[in-house]
Amino acid sequence: MSEVKRDAFIDGRWVAGEARFAVTDPFDDAPIADVTDADEAMADTAVAAAERAFAGWSRRAAPERGTLLGALGARMLADERRLAELCTRENGKPIKESLAEVRYAASFLTWFAGEAGRVYGETIPASNPAQRLLVTREPVGPVAVITPWNFPYAMLTRKLGAALAAGCTVVAKPAEATPLGTLAIAELAQEVGVPAGVFNVVPTSRAREVGGHLLAAKAIRKISFTGSTEVGMLIMKNAAADLKRVSLELGGNAPFVVLSDADLDAAVAGALVAKFRNSGQTCVAANRFIVEEPVAEAFAGKLRAAVAELHVGRGSDPRTDVGPVIDDAAARKIAGLVADAVKRGARVVLGTPPDGASRLIHPVILDGITPEMALWRTEIFGPVIALRTAADEGAAIAQANDTEYGLVAYVYTRDGARQLRVAEALEAGMVGVNEGLVSTAQAPFGGIKHSGFGREGSRHGIDDYTNLKYIAQRIG
Ligand code: SIN
Repeated sequence: MSEVKRDAFIDGRWVAGEARFAVTDPFDDAPIADVTDADEAMADTAVAAAERAFAGWSRRAAPERGTLLGALGARMLADERRLAELCTRENGKPIKESLAEVRYAASFLTWFAGEAGRVYGETIPASNPAQRLLVTREPVGPVAVITPWNFPYAMLTRKLGAALAAGCTVVAKPAEATPLGTLAIAELAQEVGVPAGVFNVVPTSRAREVGGHLLAAKAIRKISFTGSTEVGMLIMKNAAADLKRVSLELGGNAPFVVLSDADLDAAVAGALVAKFRNSGQTCVAANRFIVEEPVAEAFAGKLRAAVAELHVGRGSDPRTDVGPVIDDAAARKIAGLVADAVKRGARVVLGTPPDGASRLIHPVILDGITPEMALWRTEIFGPVIALRTAADEGAAIAQANDTEYGLVAYVYTRDGARQLRVAEALEAGMVGVNEGLVSTAQAPFGGIKHSGFGREGSRHGIDDYTNLKYIAQRIG
């Protein structure tokens, strides 16, 4: 495997373009690679390749497709160190988290390698004895997958694994900040024998234009997007023009509820994962901490002590827990949210409000949060903890649901009945009960409300890539 692939990958070939864009290290802006800046014409070539490859790939025996996915997952794991280092360079995340991401990403390929052979149909008892009624599942066709910068490998494989297992072919458009991980996976896919045209990659700095072009392409039958709610809404609107299938994994505003009977040490351990994974830049990040009054002080004290221990620095340093945020705009946004909260009366109980000038943001804990503060409604996407108290369980649930988002929610309580009662009352596609990390390949990942729809991972993850076909057969 070569050092870093830098060109578009179309129809099994590396295609260099004259226009290029720079990928840099978010820690210090050091250049990593100049990448081919795919334009609309390249996107068309990639779509045509995916369309040509579809017939052969979809007709392949499903277990064979599974074997190739399994091989790709294994190949990723064999190269995990190199892939992790690449991820830390282009994304900035701590190296231990990059390693975890490579394993998480490979687990989707392994999972869907198995699921490929389980795309079951059904038979339905007919009213007419002379009929047989069958239901089969067919791949939707070539798919465009548009992935974010925060998990360059896992957000790709969660879509790619399901699509390829179902028999679809793929054109992937990675985020401008982090195209190298996707290109590295394309190289491995080629190495393990994924046929030409089945998986194509068009890196671009013109996401709106090239992404929009993919969306408009007649041959593309489905779009799977992970990213902001704003862009997700635009994609859905544009996809309507051609009635394309859409899966949207969008923003979050996760509540992290700590009830009065919670194991506070467990809650703090869960909070660290739910808040600081990828330096706070995940859509499942705990955005609003809601703590029942009797334990508010004790929880805040324990949390302060644990957060103060976190090491902030360059992602390649093995001690680092919190790396740089992705770019200057992210740093400014986080600083703005903290400044707004402080102006409206929040108290800084740990750290110094960031000034927006540095991407390296030291953790901040704020308490006295109110719904008038912008961070109550906005995904912070950074290492800032916002604490609010609730008088009782009912108030905690009302506060938790006071958001237009509904991706994930967390609740900590020792009481078994309360665990289920609160989990059921929380408006979210996923709930962590005494658990700060819900993401895993076996489980359906996805949201409700403005967090989108469709599920990724699990046995449900393949559904969005298939159409049901009903066949009525007369036998007599
Ligand atoms: C995301 O932030 O979009 C996904 C995070 C995860 O899969 O856990």
